[in-house]
Amino acid sequence: MKVTVVGAGAVGATCADNIARKELCSELVLLDIKPGVAEGKAQDMMQCATLLGFDTKISGSTNDYAKTAGSDVVVITSGIPRKPGMTREELIGVNAGIVKGVALSILEHSPNAIIIVISNPMDTMTYLALQATGLPKHRIIGMGGTLDSSRFKYQLSTHMGCSPSDLNAVVIGGHGDTTMIPLMRHATWNSTPVANFLSTEEQAEIVKATMVGGATLTGLLGTSAWYAPGAAGAALVESILRDEKKLFTCCVSLDGEYGQNDICLGVPVVIGRSGWEKIVDFQLNEAEQAEFDKSAAAVRSMNDVLKTL
Ligand code: LAC
Repeated sequence: MKVTVVGAGAVGATCADNIARKELCSELVLLDIKPGVAEGKAQDMMQCATLLGFDTKISGSTNDYAKTAGSDVVVITSGIPRKPGMTREELIGVNAGIVKGVALSILEHSPNAIIIVISNPMDTMTYLALQATGLPKHRIIGMGGTLDSSRFKYQLSTHMGCSPSDLNAVVIGGHGDTTMIPLMRHATWNSTPVANFLSTEEQAEIVKATMVGGATLTGLLGTSAWYAPGAAGAALVESILRDEKKLFTCCVSLDGEYGQNDICLGVPVVIGRSGWEKIVDFQLNEAEQAEFDKSAAAVRSMNDVLKTL
């Protein structure tokens, strides 16, 4: 198996590091446009092989897509990250051109690849990758909800004093500070609703903290986060290559599911060897569906910006 991670910045390098540690593939290529960066990080990671005990061969490339040929999965992290005070949406002008170019270059050499999009604004970049490549929809997966669901579980676990691994909780909708929807009603501690253990105020606090989870880290770090975004990308690669058929929230193309069309948005999907394999209907109530429709409208207006670029 071969995986390429495009973009050797903090998110891309962390994602590659996780993929190698888990030995998800025999060959891993890290590619970046900045001379030497991907080669340097690849060598640095390879020098961990005997210390950490992995056999994945990692190589770096400065924009030579021929080196990525025959990849089974490609993770796109390219583009500029947000700075404190910026929204993910403000990155669209710069990142649209980058993501489109990367997706097309990748497919020239790996026509059968499944593509995972991490670049922001993630919902619009996923939609753009689908439009620009014309790939079957099941092969384009936006990572956002996987990360946001993990952040939701983190927030729940700190309030409840429990292990995040004992929680089941998902965030659907867009991957934006105002478009994501942590589904509190569906969240459980093992199988008991978390709402049984949290006051209404605490629930509101958790939802808010989850939604601005990325912005909080951007404020602390001066740039956007990388450990959880990289780990979320690697978790999707794992479910694909090992055909785990795990349920993740991912940004995928909707054809009437959840009442939406012509948009890529976060919904629960089964991830396996052929990409996202099916959308699972969580049977939203009226209020949740209204929030989903509002989120879709905001993402759709962002997608409209693509037409003006
Ligand atoms: C975040 C970026 C990766 O949420 O979108 O941290």
